[in-house]
Amino acid sequence: MRLVFLGPPGAGKGTQAQRICAERGIPQISTGDLFRAALAAGTKLGLEAKAFMDRGELVPDGVVCGMVAERLAKQDAASGFILDGFPRTVAQADALDAVLQKMGQPLLACVDFVVERSELIRRLTRRLTCRKCGAVYNTDALPPKAAGLCDRCGGEVYVRDDDRPETVERRLKEYDAKTAAVSGYYAGRGLLRQVNAARSLADVAVELDRLIARP
Ligand code: AP5
Repeated sequence: MRLVFLGPPGAGKGTQAQRICAERGIPQISTGDLFRAALAAGTKLGLEAKAFMDRGELVPDGVVCGMVAERLAKQDAASGFILDGFPRTVAQADALDAVLQKMGQPLLACVDFVVERSELIRRLTRRLTCRKCGAVYNTDALPPKAAGLCDRCGGEVYVRDDDRPETVERRLKEYDAKTAAVSGYYAGRGLLRQVNAARSLADVAVELDRLIARP
């Protein structure tokens, strides 16, 4: 199973990717998580990405594409993966296409998570993320069982810096300007599948599982 999860910030890509990947034993390759891990490790890549992330802007294509190509070459991606938050520009989609062609591993589908803006803002401003393992919670829809602690690893849950209202606004604008066109790229190749992701977590999960079974 080789999938791309596309959609605006807060649409639920990471939440559903974590679930499906855990169930199927394939890696969730989230470019946002890779940057946050690089930053936590104090690497040059992390520090370079931080400036863009703090402003709610996309990290330059050249930086992202090399990082993803390296990650896809790892052994655990050989039996499938979900790319969560990549590609986010048409240039990134072209670069991914070239890497997968070289590996002889075509994509099964690009799943586009469709949610209206007011709901995205509501979700992002209520999101909690585990500092240690990246698990995603929500003060409304999916609170951690013990306040402030991750159910999965016991790590501290926190509010991401880029979930501040002014940065959320900027991220949504970046999405419209640079990422929305990626859906057309995959529609043109017959790979685009849209999911109404404005519904409950359980309803979205059912639709996704159905779609994955019969792409
Ligand atoms: P990244 O970390 O990828 O953020 P994002 O794409 O903006 O996506 P989010 O993580 O905000 O949302 P999501 O769709 O995963 O939603 P989630 O499941 O968490 O990127 C961060 C930054 O890194 C970017 O701004 C950029 O700077 C940089 N970057 C990353 N990739 C890049 C790339 N390819 N190119 C260039 N730069 C890149 O859910 C959100 C909340 O809603 C949670 O609280 C969740 O519990 C809740 N929720 C989920 N589903 C539901 C539901 N059905 N009902 C109710 N609540 C729900």
